[in-house]
Amino acid sequence: MLIVGGKTDARIAALEAAQGKHAAFEALYDASEDPWDTLNPRFSYQSRKYNRLMAQLPQRRFRRALDLGSGLGTLSRLLASRADQVVGIDLAQTAVERARHRHGAAGSLQFQRGDIADLPGALEGCFDLITIMDTLYYLPDTSDAALDDVVARIAALLEPGGLVVLSNHLFAGGWDKATRLSRRIDRAFCRSPRLALVSRHWQPFFQTTVLAALPPGTQSA
Ligand SMILES: C[S@@+](CC[C@H](N)C(=O)[O-])C[C@H]1O[C@@H](n2cnc3c(N)ncnc32)[C@H](O)[C@@H]1O
Repeated sequence: MLIVGGKTDARIAALEAAQGKHAAFEALYDASEDPWDTLNPRFSYQSRKYNRLMAQLPQRRFRRALDLGSGLGTLSRLLASRADQVVGIDLAQTAVERARHRHGAAGSLQFQRGDIADLPGALEGCFDLITIMDTLYYLPDTSDAALDDVVARIAALLEPGGLVVLSNHLFAGGWDKATRLSRRIDRAFCRSPRLALVSRHWQPFFQTTVLAALPPGTQSA
């Protein structure tokens, strides 16, 4: 699914069939320090994605940012330069511990284990920025109805005017299976009555989309 992660995705599929989703991601991180080569300087694709997302943020300071599917915490760490507090959440405890080890766990940057599909209601309305990079493909159910449900729950975590930023793999032309899923994910966010599209940028081989939470009682056009 990912430009540098085809083998990793095949491995996830095999592990998942044998052990279930959560155990699959744990096993993946147990087997490799950096399963998607996000830290490997040979893959400039990864740093281009991080830099693009940061460049697409409006020039304002954020109060509380949430990085969903934070992995080794590289993006969360970059967000800490723009937000007073950053929480990175990942399904895999090993990833959380590795991110804490790399970036520290105190003060303004924190990492926790959690599942995007089952986030605590206590987080609702708590964030003015949410980022989700290369993660939503891995949800157990990616039907349109399930995506609408996840988007509604993510939108509920934002305060009015807060932003959600997606970054997903996308090939031009877009007829491969992974790109079709990325497009459906993007469309699910764009059709949410609680979100309005702010900007979208494509470059080889990913798309970054920024949406803003509408104030209660208003609906996107
Ligand atoms: C391709 S990695 C991306 C990591 C990070 N966003 C980045 O771009 O560097 C996908 C991450 O999503 C996490 N993940 C998968 N399903 C998840 C879920 N349901 N909830 C939270 N994290 C999840 C995996 O453990 C993995 O760390």
